[in-house]
Amino acid sequence: MSAANIGYLVQLSFIVGAALFVVGLHLMNSPATARTGNRLSATGMIIAVAAELVYVAEGHAGLGNWAIIIIGLAAGGGLGLRMARTVAMTSMPQLVSLFNAVGGGAAALLAISDFVALDGHRILAGGAPGLDGWRTLFILADVLIGSVTFTGSLIASAKLMGLIKGQPILIPGGRIVTWFTVVCGLSVSIVLILAGMGIVTYDTSLLYVLLVTGLACALIFGLMMVLPIGGADMPVVISLLNAFTGTAVSMAGFVVGNVMLIVAGALVGASGAILTRLMAGAMNRSIANIIVGGFGAEEGTQSSFVAEGGSVREVSVDDAAIQLAYASKVVIVPGYGLAVAQAQHGVRELADLLEARGIEVSYAIHPVAGRMPGHMNVLLAEANVPYPQLREMDDINPEFERTDVALVVGANDVTNPAARSDRSSPIYGMPILDVDKARSIIVIKRSMGRGYAGIDNPLYVNPKTGMYFADAKQGLAKLIAAVKVQ
Ligand code: TAP
Repeated sequence: MSAANIGYLVQLSFIVGAALFVVGLHLMNSPATARTGNRLSATGMIIAVAAELVYVAEGHAGLGNWAIIIIGLAAGGGLGLRMARTVAMTSMPQLVSLFNAVGGGAAALLAISDFVALDGHRILAGGAPGLDGWRTLFILADVLIGSVTFTGSLIASAKLMGLIKGQPILIPGGRIVTWFTVVCGLSVSIVLILAGMGIVTYDTSLLYVLLVTGLACALIFGLMMVLPIGGADMPVVISLLNAFTGTAVSMAGFVVGNVMLIVAGALVGASGAILTRLMAGAMNRSIANIIVGGFGAEEGTQSSFVAEGGSVREVSVDDAAIQLAYASKVVIVPGYGLAVAQAQHGVRELADLLEARGIEVSYAIHPVAGRMPGHMNVLLAEANVPYPQLREMDDINPEFERTDVALVVGANDVTNPAARSDRSSPIYGMPILDVDKARSIIVIKRSMGRGYAGIDNPLYVNPKTGMYFADAKQGLAKLIAAVKVQ
């Protein structure tokens, strides 16, 4: 086959790959088709990588070090496969955040290498105006966004892994440093773009210094952006960084002239941006408010209600079973603790048992319950909970007043009524599940420990609340046994 025909075939493969991405993404709209969507997208990616390798083999890409390519593919692919297979569902957000860091970092490195090795000398020497100016713009956008994503995502991941504290970390003078990096990074970029367009000419080594300065500003900005964010705002930051990764990859596509990278990056960037808006909406926060924020509570895991002598009513498994068995409407509220305990099958078994007694059972799903978007939906789908029983927050909230028992399993922040009433609370304004409006409430958790936001939950001292202290899985097993004998 002639070189020209191979070129056409490669471009055609890119279009097929891009189409598979779009269709795959669309199928992810529904849990019923999400797996097929995932497989289609993965097939699109395999086609794209294979086509790119053919392109390289034909000598089009200007690269050809097969040893590096094969070692890179094997190391990256092998490590990614291993991490994806072994990761616990509860650790998924930190893995996603690490992948964001890797994606952003790789995109930035690609642009730097392109700047230095391929076009850098020509651009830096004040080469041809027009196209080189555009190319410099894409290179800088790629370097800056990719670097911000790299350090920001590493910090987010470290917070979620517990390597550094999850609460906001406020550095004295941090705001000034942040603004300095913004002004400095933008100024450096403007000078470099003008040089790329041939409008100004500088000494080559000075322009290299400017590029490194811009890179350093972006890396520091990423750190300073994520360190002061904590608690309940982390999900929004992770999806924002996801949108940044996509944008950086798309810019990398413009830099190296690869359509596939442009399409894949744009899809990730756009879906990340939509998710960020939805999550910020769910938290009743603006994105600017979160980034400028630095909200959160002091570190601590034990509720101060106990220390203050707050009255917590403990219920036995038999009391809890009687309340459930003689209710006519029960709403189950799952949270992060359900995921940790892997109690999704237990919750399903209990629901089946109650339904067999003619009790109406549904599940209240908060958009940020757990540690990743859709966490509860995924867990409950794994236990084959019928999808119509999963009710979104706005849909279920009006029903709590008519609910006999709200059974909270390992959820905390998403049920915290302080979000409605306490202006000083870091989660004030975040919509919550109105569990406290139910006629009675049973909370299954191990202790009076706090949730992710690190704050007290007045629900636990509500006279209607009975605390059933247990690991969610073991507690549910005992509860099921106790309901059976009612
Ligand atoms: P959390 O507020 O984090 O509370 C979970 C509760 O589960 C804890 O208070 C803990 O209390 C309990 N728990 C832990 N292990 C347990 C076990 N084995 N058995 C029973 N209970 C157990 O969870 P939530 O209500 O789902 O709220 C999610 C929080 O995470 C929000 O603040 C949200 O903003 C944040 N976040 C969400 C995401 C996404 S995208 N969903 C990502 C990052 C952060 P004990 O220790 O007393 O048992």
